[in-house]
Amino acid sequence: MLDQQLKNLLRHTDITFQAPSFDAIEVKDAATGVSLAWVKKHDRADVEAAIVRAEHAQALFKQQSALQRADLMMAWYQLILKHQQDLAQILTAEQGKPLSEANGEIKYAASFIRWFAEQARRIDGDVITPVQSQQRLLVLKQAIGVTAAITPWNFPAAMITRKIAPALAAGCSMLIKPAEQTPLSAYALEVLAMQAGLPRDVMITLSGDSVDVGQTLCESPIVRKLSFTGSTEVGRILMQQCAPTIKKLSLELGGNAPLIVFDDANIEQAVKGIMNSKYRNSGQTCVCANRIYIQDGVYDAVSQRVIEEVAKLKMGDGRLADVTQGPLIDEDAIIKVQSHIEDAIDQGAKLAIGGKRLAPDNTFFEPTVLTHVTQSMRVAREETFGPLAALFRFKTEDEVIQMANATEFGLAAYLFSQNTARQWRVGEALEYGMVGINTGLISNEASSFGGIKQSGLGREGSQYGIEDYLELKYMCIDLSE
Ligand code: SIN
Repeated sequence: MLDQQLKNLLRHTDITFQAPSFDAIEVKDAATGVSLAWVKKHDRADVEAAIVRAEHAQALFKQQSALQRADLMMAWYQLILKHQQDLAQILTAEQGKPLSEANGEIKYAASFIRWFAEQARRIDGDVITPVQSQQRLLVLKQAIGVTAAITPWNFPAAMITRKIAPALAAGCSMLIKPAEQTPLSAYALEVLAMQAGLPRDVMITLSGDSVDVGQTLCESPIVRKLSFTGSTEVGRILMQQCAPTIKKLSLELGGNAPLIVFDDANIEQAVKGIMNSKYRNSGQTCVCANRIYIQDGVYDAVSQRVIEEVAKLKMGDGRLADVTQGPLIDEDAIIKVQSHIEDAIDQGAKLAIGGKRLAPDNTFFEPTVLTHVTQSMRVAREETFGPLAALFRFKTEDEVIQMANATEFGLAAYLFSQNTARQWRVGEALEYGMVGINTGLISNEASSFGGIKQSGLGREGSQYGIEDYLELKYMCIDLSE
């Protein structure tokens, strides 16, 4: 149940707290299954009308100065921080992550708004040295126009701001389709954006399904750019849907992150890195370590310490004190973790701790560790997206680089070693868009988040994140009379 204060923050025409007569999506509490609210299920006609509104809004918004846009964004940033606790409560209710993590996510979400408000004033073009002396060659950077975002349930706030902040800084408008399980955080952010003074319709949240909302956004010739975070499978479909209109795409897709611990690592630092990377959001992040490779000489010591740390994790309703592990998002998530565990055990892996769901009527799954995992097991090829630490053993640096790169994915990788030459050598050899060295936490607003291979296209955050929302315009001026 949401209390009155949280309901006030969700005062939006698309939301109701009683079962409505219109077509709606029920949003349930992730831990208890109780109804939290209903959000309007937008149909194609709603989406088409919203796209036109976003187009009008963008035509005016792009005429504001960069400083005006930056000031509006800073006002939004301040309001988000002011309502941090409430936003975190809403996030935990619909998504399930512990309140401490939800608070962290709201801060993380806000950080993108501040970062890109700062970047708004540095969208500089270039003056190119001309080929002919009477000519002047310029490159301008201009807002791409109306943009759209399709965002995931695992970070219901931060994945929205990571996309809309650069869009607004550049002078674009954005239509946002939040995940069906977690639309409330999106609406709360929109309510605060309007309170901060951002012009109406530069941010439009459109709850609904992937056909009526997602496909309509992809097919619209007015929408010039789509940013998506989610699975590689869905990313491929969206690429196809965007192909006829040659839309610019940012895709942050699946991962299968290797985390490598060498014999020369600081063991406690490595264990902390494994815990941070693996069990954040109950293993439901696309940068979670999926394959943990530990070198022979430290395998037993590191495994033992990981098992001890996992034993200290506390599963439960994220609003309760000390809880570190919330529920998984749905039954399919439980089935995936279970199937990876069964497949690995069938092929010789050993269950060290955990291994089962809490009860058949909820989606809590014990934090689990498997040892003696090998490359032939499903967990080596597929992202588990759940609280399963799969511990592999390796002997040499060359062998582990080959194993780590043996995947079509290339999002994040991690390595732990005290040897500087090895840090560089292995860091450069790993075929990934992001490499954490001696840390399991790499995400922040200043980092260029994104993957290579089938993990996606483009970068979010950092000074590069705004480029996807800009078009280059080359101007050639002939000065001859
Ligand atoms: C994600 O899982 O998609 C994002 C994780 C992060 O930003 O750290």
